[in-house]
Amino acid sequence: MKEKILQLLKSNTTDFISGEKISNKLGVSRATIWKYINSLKKEGYTIESVSRKGYKLLSSPDILNYEELKTHLTSKYMGRNVFYYDTIGSTNTKAKELAANGVPEGTVVISEEQTSGRGRLGRAWISPKYKGVWMSIVLRPDIDPMNVAKITQVGAAAVYNAIKSLGIDTSIKWPNDIILNHKKVCGILTEMNAEINKINYVIMGIGINVNLDKEDILDDINSVATSLKIESNNSIDRKKLVSSLLNNFEALYEDFLDNPKMKKTIDICKVHSAIIGKEIRVIKRDSTLNAKAIDINEDGKLVVQYKDGSKEALFSGEVSVRGLMGYV
Ligand code: BTN
Repeated sequence: MKEKILQLLKSNTTDFISGEKISNKLGVSRATIWKYINSLKKEGYTIESVSRKGYKLLSSPDILNYEELKTHLTSKYMGRNVFYYDTIGSTNTKAKELAANGVPEGTVVISEEQTSGRGRLGRAWISPKYKGVWMSIVLRPDIDPMNVAKITQVGAAAVYNAIKSLGIDTSIKWPNDIILNHKKVCGILTEMNAEINKINYVIMGIGINVNLDKEDILDDINSVATSLKIESNNSIDRKKLVSSLLNNFEALYEDFLDNPKMKKTIDICKVHSAIIGKEIRVIKRDSTLNAKAIDINEDGKLVVQYKDGSKEALFSGEVSVRGLMGYV
């Protein structure tokens, strides 16, 4: 009922809607409406109430629940089933649990804060409340488990497009980081549950440092990490960002399923690459070598050329890359 009242208020934010009109439309008493209006106010909605005129929605809170996201969503199934939390350990961990219990593809777990956010290579991912996008998408692609790493790049391309739609031009550091002014603003952690040749589910966890302030970035990472707000000097609309991300991700993911060469994704990752054409360090389990990044091939591998002229296509699971002068 609360959602329906909110929907009515949102459908007309220029005029007052009378309690009587809401009551007739939804078939509930005016006392009940008043109770839900108060509850919405507690959630952060600013609603003006004037006797004999009714109610008018003045503003909505900066939260990422489905009610708020759906205004901007155009996707068919990405983000149409949202599990929203005020606080959680890790959205990836929750998404795995839900996926194991059978939630459909495109289900999203999103939290305003994570208390044990996880990054790649067992690192922690700092996720302060209301300041970022901390979310995980459940996927069930019918593909060879060998190809799952490619989905990270579909995600990176979608994040690039979503941030660009808000007027900020970033670059993509293969395979899974989004970079702004040489520092990281977003990371992707793709995890999978599979048998030898069958995927049960993939969880794509995306962390975007959106409205973090300088003091939110720990000293030990502030030379390599930043936020969209710090770099643009503007607060960013997180709802628009998440919806655009889900809209873009659905389109690129479908393209990938239809055509595993994922030309659209690769084009975005190449054109906006932070490293192609640059000297980088290729860090493997037991060696570190300097090389020039020259391409991303249709398998989503990074092609590098070593000093002796030899070339290698690197698989994202086995290497990290760094710029020679720092992170990128
Ligand atoms: C990286 O190391 O770059 C990957 C960071 C991924 C962080 C996101 S935030 C949402 C999701 N839940 C997690 O615990 N991690 C991912």
